[in-house]
Amino acid sequence: MIFQPKTITLKNGKTAVLKTASPENAAEMLSYIKTASGETDFLLRYPEEWNLTVAQEEAWIQNLAASSGTLAIACFVDGKVAGNCEISFKKGMKEGHRASVAIAILKAYWGLGIGSAMFAELISTAKNYGTEIMELDYLQGNERALHLYEKFGFKTVSEIPNAIKLKNGTYLSEFHMQKYL
Ligand SMILES: CC(C)(COP(=O)(O)OP(=O)(O)OC[C@H]1O[C@@H](n2cnc3c(N)ncnc32)[C@H](O)[C@@H]1OP(=O)(O)O)[C@@H](O)C(=O)NCCC(=O)NCCS
Repeated sequence: MIFQPKTITLKNGKTAVLKTASPENAAEMLSYIKTASGETDFLLRYPEEWNLTVAQEEAWIQNLAASSGTLAIACFVDGKVAGNCEISFKKGMKEGHRASVAIAILKAYWGLGIGSAMFAELISTAKNYGTEIMELDYLQGNERALHLYEKFGFKTVSEIPNAIKLKNGTYLSEFHMQKYL
């Protein structure tokens, strides 16, 4: 799926563009996710666990664009990738009413309203698709993300204790949230 480009204004007055990354962005997308993974403990992988080649990332981006089940929306500020988000629509008669979302923005761009702009688009996309329940997971302590998700009407429905173990031995719970559309 491909998101039609949309220009937004950030809290600092700059403009940004929301659009689906294209294969030409592959190297930058890889660098973005590695950087983002090193800037927070609240993503599921460490930077060194991202070891796709640029060619593999190009193929991944192409597959996503051609897929009927996933929409990825990146945010570009001054032409550079600032963040990315995804919504994956579940398939099948029993789970097809649900969709899950994920988001990661580079630290330099936190607090500018990019997450909020992305969530507004993800929710509107899900509504148009006919999704009944949007879902996501967040890790214990991720107050910024929790604030964003609650602002958009997501509610915590379950906890997996000790779901994550950090390099320093700290265990974190993973929480599951749902929003009924
Ligand atoms: C979590 C994340 C997606 C939020 O995106 P963002 O672009 O910074 O979000 P926004 O600027 O739209 O909104 C942030 C909101 O959190 C609030 N906030 C900022 N710091 C906060 C904190 N420590 N505690 C609670 N709320 C906080 C802001 O005031 C703002 O609220 P408002 O819109 O009511 O004014 C982004 O910070 C991020 O990618 N973090 C690292 C990766 C990550 O955690 N991904 C989510 C995994 S579940």
